[in-house]
Amino acid sequence: MTVIPITLAPGKRRAAIENFYQDVVRGLTAPQKYLDSKYFYDAKGDALFQEIMQCHEYYLTGCEMEILSSQAAAIAAELCSSGEAFDIIELGAGDATKSIHLLKYLAEKGVDYTYYPIDISKNVISLLEKTLPANVPGLKLHGLNGEYFDMLKRVGNLSTRKKVLLFMGANIGNFNVAAARSFCRELRSMLSPGDRLLTGFDLKKHPQMILSAYNDGAGITRAFNFNLLERINRELDADFDISRFDHFPTYDPGTGACKSYLVSLANQKVRIGDDVVITFAEHETIYMEISQKYSLPEIAQLAATSGFEPVTYFFDSKRWFTDCLWECY
Ligand SMILES: C[S@@+](CC[C@H](N)C(=O)[O-])C[C@H]1O[C@@H](n2cnc3c(N)ncnc32)[C@H](O)[C@@H]1O
Repeated sequence: MTVIPITLAPGKRRAAIENFYQDVVRGLTAPQKYLDSKYFYDAKGDALFQEIMQCHEYYLTGCEMEILSSQAAAIAAELCSSGEAFDIIELGAGDATKSIHLLKYLAEKGVDYTYYPIDISKNVISLLEKTLPANVPGLKLHGLNGEYFDMLKRVGNLSTRKKVLLFMGANIGNFNVAAARSFCRELRSMLSPGDRLLTGFDLKKHPQMILSAYNDGAGITRAFNFNLLERINRELDADFDISRFDHFPTYDPGTGACKSYLVSLANQKVRIGDDVVITFAEHETIYMEISQKYSLPEIAQLAATSGFEPVTYFFDSKRWFTDCLWECY
């Protein structure tokens, strides 16, 4: 497929916008149209995600918050068990409202570490730099705005300490199982024996409960999905009419894949910039996001096939969610 060069005002020809444009055109001209979920997070997307985390249907945040707030001491004990100095690197840190419990606990105990939050959202990193040091006295913070692996490489040039990676919020679920394995293997290739990874996994449970988490009654998840079309309109000069699309989440308990789609409600054409027109048939879908659910054996298999050894599983009291600590061997 040929990707047509971006035709935006010269001032907007930044690499980030160009990448966004190329990814959007690539996705919307694929046989199954799709959009990359990393683009959900502009300033409005960040704010909507905060609202999703407050929804009563979205149990994930409460479960992981319970783990971090009630088991920070146990997690810290594991991290400090080798006696070696480490830094904490959080992949897709968001507002760090969960990791802050661990950061605070370690700081209170006088553990010397630097916290490197990585996030693709500039907004998120500026906010963390502004607010976190005031809330965690003594915190050494170095925010990194960009993609996971690019920024992780940068941390490698900044510190030679052992690395403790946090990958929370069930972010790993935003990959299908094969892509999660490739992601973990790539992470592993950038780490050394003894480095650790604490990952949040949403566990398989009653299918209806899972589906409801991605279809909240207040329509916030719906707005979060539509915001990506609005972002394409805003940043790439497109003309999506969101009233001509519907939000359709699905969950397959067999595979554990919870997927969301936008459905075209009519035969329609959408223009992107000056050069691209995308044709939608009525009921054609755009695949927006996966939130993969796991069983404990599936998590162990993911660790084993990507070069990690599970050390400990931390669970919430309902055992709906787990933060797993893995070590590189
Ligand atoms: C689902 S939120 C989770 C936030 C936080 N970890 C939590 O548990 O609440 C995902 C975060 O990852 C960031 N993100 C998504 N894709 C990314 C990528 N490819 N590289 C860096 N950050 C990314 C988003 O901007 C967002 O802040």
